[in-house]
Amino acid sequence: MSQRQSFLVAVSLCLLLAASFSPCTLAGGGGKPLITPITKDASTSLYTAPLEGGRPLVLDLSGSLVRSTCVTCDASHPTLEPYERECADANRYTRPRCWAYAAGSDDGASNGRSKCAAHPYNPVAGRCASGDLTRAALSASATDGKNPLYPVSFPAVASCAPESLLDKLPAGAAGVAGLAPSDLALPAQIATTQGVARKLALCLPSGGQGITSAMEFTPLRRYQEQPGYYIWIKGINVNQNPVPLGYYGGPLVVGFSTTTPYTALRADVYRPFVQAFDNASTSGFGMQRVAPVAPFEMCYNRSTLWSTRIGYAAPQIDLIMEDGTRYGVFGANSLVQVDDGTVCLAFVEMKAGEVGYEHYGQQAPAMVMGGYQMENNLLVFDEEQQQLGLSTLLLFRQTTCSNFNFTMAA
Ligand SMILES: *[C@@H]1O[C@H](CO)[C@@H](O)[C@H](O)[C@H]1NC(C)=O
Ligand SMILES: *[C@@H]1O[C@H](CO)[C@@H](O)[C@H](O)[C@H]1NC(C)=O
Ligand SMILES: *[C@@H]1O[C@H](CO)[C@@H](O)[C@H](O)[C@H]1NC(C)=O
Repeated sequence: MSQRQSFLVAVSLCLLLAASFSPCTLAGGGGKPLITPITKDASTSLYTAPLEGGRPLVLDLSGSLVRSTCVTCDASHPTLEPYERECADANRYTRPRCWAYAAGSDDGASNGRSKCAAHPYNPVAGRCASGDLTRAALSASATDGKNPLYPVSFPAVASCAPESLLDKLPAGAAGVAGLAPSDLALPAQIATTQGVARKLALCLPSGGQGITSAMEFTPLRRYQEQPGYYIWIKGINVNQNPVPLGYYGGPLVVGFSTTTPYTALRADVYRPFVQAFDNASTSGFGMQRVAPVAPFEMCYNRSTLWSTRIGYAAPQIDLIMEDGTRYGVFGANSLVQVDDGTVCLAFVEMKAGEVGYEHYGQQAPAMVMGGYQMENNLLVFDEEQQQLGLSTLLLFRQTTCSNFNFTMAA
């Protein structure tokens, strides 16, 4: 636990919203890209940013709405009308668990209710509610791509949500900021109000850079009309050897989630992957297997591992991108210390229908990349160019997402 504690309290200046790098180009409209610090919450492993008047919102990469218990959500809050475009946008995609609520909102409209109802979803508890669509004032800092400049307050369409929808979120959180590539998620709303590109740079603190030279780009792909970011990979290597996936040969779909603490692999991918990793770590790296510690299966005696600048020395995991380039996952992102003497492979098996994957139905992606694997890597989700930029682990450059110096990115 000791290591976990030390990184969980870290704060970084790292969610670079609607910005672009090298150098930070400012699109027309005179607005500037915005930036906000991210904190990892120790007890929930969720990431928050102080976007609502200093109150934190939980970051959700696959969320398509901003929702809040809203200081503004009293009787006088300005609600949108059912016929407004934003109301249609807010209801374009409904999580399966929200269908009952969505049906209810039609009743509202037909019995003369002149408010737009949205269906905010709690991605951690897997629960839904009904709330008015309103306009909230959010805030972040303007940036020149190098440094934070000055605070900016901007209006955003947001859904109100009852207090009960804060269940399982960090103490003090006011709601959830959806970051998906959709019109009412935060990147698109900031792009509109600031006149900048629909682009999101995410650097999650652990507890990353080499950006310009080491960034690899891969196309963003659509998946089942689900909100969120997806890429295709061709395979996974462990210690330079392809993992035998017994797959039909099509692309493997990879999603990204800031509300999933550890990367989840679909069962048919998980099993050969952990076997390949275990084989390479015990026979190649001399790591000694010990009893599993939930939720992990492959755990090792910490005394049989070496520490390096990029985490424990362990078999390298490579994701093979569409163009054949490799994206490496090193010890800092693949192994997690669970107690003084034990280190575990920080990947879990996806359980069909579980919260977080239930909306995929029978066809879950091969992999949903979780927060731990993204920490100290810089990810740039570029909705306009439809591509994802991935940095190598920032630890190679002797930096992290917590002491990221934006000058280096320019
Ligand atoms: C097991 O690991 C060894 C050493 O890294 C390697 O030579 C061998 O090919 C691996 N076997 C399998 C089945 O992955
Ligand atoms: C871990 O390895 C050390 C050193 O090899 C050994 O003394 C210790 O008993 C091992 N612990 C377990 C749980 O196997
Ligand atoms: C960032 O790097 C630049 C150039 O190396 C340096 O002048 C500046 O002081 C650094 N800023 C911080 C906050 O470390």
